[in-house]
Amino acid sequence: MYERSITDSDDFWAEQAEALHWNKGWSAPLCQSNINVENGPVHISWFVGAETNMAYNCLDRHIEAGHGDRVAIFWEGNDEGEERVLTYSELKSMVCRIANYLKSLGVKRGSDVTMYMSLVPELPAAMLACARIGAVHSVVFGGFSAEALSGRILDSQPNVVITSSGTMRGPKPIGLKAIVDDALDICEKHGHTVQHVLMLEQLPLAEVGGSMKPGRDVTWREAVDSQSDECPVEWLPAEAPLFKLYTSGSTGKPKGVLHTTAGYMLGALVTTKYVFDVQPATDVYWCTADCGWITGHTYVAYGPLLLGATQVLFEGVPTWPDAGRCWSIVDKYKVTIVYTAPTAIRALHAKGDAYVTRYSRASLRLLGSVGEPINPEAWRWYHQVVGDGRCPIMDTWWQTETGGHMITPLPGATPLKPGSATLPFFGVEPVVLDEKGNELQGPCEGVLCIKKPWPSMMRTVAGDHARFEQTYFSAYKGYYFTGDGCRRDADGYYWITGRVDDVLNVSGHRIGTAEVESALVEHPSCVEAAVVGVEHPIKGQSIYAFVTLMTGVEPGDALRKELISTVRKIIGPFAAPDVIHWAPGLPKTRSGKIMRRVLRKIAAKEEDQLGDTSTLADPSVVQVLVELRGK
Ligand code: WT7
Repeated sequence: MYERSITDSDDFWAEQAEALHWNKGWSAPLCQSNINVENGPVHISWFVGAETNMAYNCLDRHIEAGHGDRVAIFWEGNDEGEERVLTYSELKSMVCRIANYLKSLGVKRGSDVTMYMSLVPELPAAMLACARIGAVHSVVFGGFSAEALSGRILDSQPNVVITSSGTMRGPKPIGLKAIVDDALDICEKHGHTVQHVLMLEQLPLAEVGGSMKPGRDVTWREAVDSQSDECPVEWLPAEAPLFKLYTSGSTGKPKGVLHTTAGYMLGALVTTKYVFDVQPATDVYWCTADCGWITGHTYVAYGPLLLGATQVLFEGVPTWPDAGRCWSIVDKYKVTIVYTAPTAIRALHAKGDAYVTRYSRASLRLLGSVGEPINPEAWRWYHQVVGDGRCPIMDTWWQTETGGHMITPLPGATPLKPGSATLPFFGVEPVVLDEKGNELQGPCEGVLCIKKPWPSMMRTVAGDHARFEQTYFSAYKGYYFTGDGCRRDADGYYWITGRVDDVLNVSGHRIGTAEVESALVEHPSCVEAAVVGVEHPIKGQSIYAFVTLMTGVEPGDALRKELISTVRKIIGPFAAPDVIHWAPGLPKTRSGKIMRRVLRKIAAKEEDQLGDTSTLADPSVVQVLVELRGK
């Protein structure tokens, strides 16, 4: 099948697309594109001429086939005992009510809608409601701060924001509405007024903060519950924008990765089907990701529903009320497929096997991993302890930009090697390039690029097509540049070695060093900051910040706390540096460029392996920094 997907790509994808409903067919060729900047603007279109609808394919199609009573979502709340069950018919009704309410506000094809919620069924339902009427959703992860949320709202300028009052995250209340209120105040100051805020009632505002602004804010009960259960589908062109999702890069502010309808839908369907071998009638599938990340888009909101499968949606955290929660959920719902991140696996491994082995887990048959390279030790624990040695592990490499899995095993077909994402998925042609951009052959190591467009790839950076071309298509002409390094072994297996740009991966969250640095220099005492990643046993990488203070400012623990809380406030708690290293000066080249390579070695206590430092403007800063480590 892989060979055919490459040599006979049009036929292959056309055949796969038959599983979906099309209101109107496409006109050949399937893919019209140019990804070589030297041949003019980069553009990618799939299924030109076709019309379809994501929500119809996720819901109506299955209901019309007689599966309306099948469970779509088993929802498990943060606290044990909080649970809800939604069938496909019930989910469709919810989606239609939200869609009708959005329409009553004037939301239509191409309108932007931002969501800021925890993982409740209303979140994927709101995403599907947008998809049903052709609106473009932008989900912002509930761990982002008001500042970060306001930046994303200002970029896409929605008239409507959907949120909830607030919820518990583990033992801690989170006031989501209060954060939205603050974010919208910031937006006002920058000249953008959000006209409508729809709020789901979870915890009372009196408990979690936030207030209802008359004329702007409405509760779910008053706005949505009274709407009709029927809402006609908008048939949309294949390339109609489906969503924007903001992600971090090596420079500047987060960019709005734009995905469109048909190609993304087909990618979500086909990867979920083949990589997880989902059997809709019998499997209970559980992806632990939040809908605020791409994994929660493709493998929670869309992939499983496109297949008509039953899934678990879990609002809480894996360690609440204790480290056995995930396996208690597996037993409770007889989960057969679990898809999670190495950071969670390592965190649970550290708590000991007893939390796992006290549950049966007999229903499990397949495990997945995503977000960062999985170290062989974590892989083996996941395989032997969690999966009782019985479940294959799908280590899936992909990105927000790729929309779906790119390098991944297929269960039963691909012999596994712990730590390798193995081989390319259908239609994906990876290449390993040297610094000069030459394609390497056989076993090799270099940067990972992709040679040809695939259906679910991003189409542009929202509002900034030049940045799209610059970021992904200019370093290596004629290829999509992933930002990752990789090794290919003698069996043709790919081993992702991590980012080659200034992007960090902390607990599976993607964070740009430049973003953390610009947050730090917002503090009045900080003149300059340089951020690097250091290896961390649980988080994969942790954030290590070198900070230069204003002349006359004394370093100290109080200031250290202030700097960390500045980052929490501007980006979010998950971006907080673990270490602030006082730096009277930073190692720079004569042209003023910070040598992060040197800083990484100092942070890792490997200053004996600095390599060539002859280009440093002032080599003595290295010794000064080594002496200040831990101070
Ligand atoms: C970056 C993309 C893809 C959904 C979650 C993250 C790293 C992701 C793997 C893996 C090694 C991985 C890469 C990639 N990454 N999956 N299986 N093995 N590295 O999406 O936030 O867009 O981050 O995550 O470095 O470029 P994202």
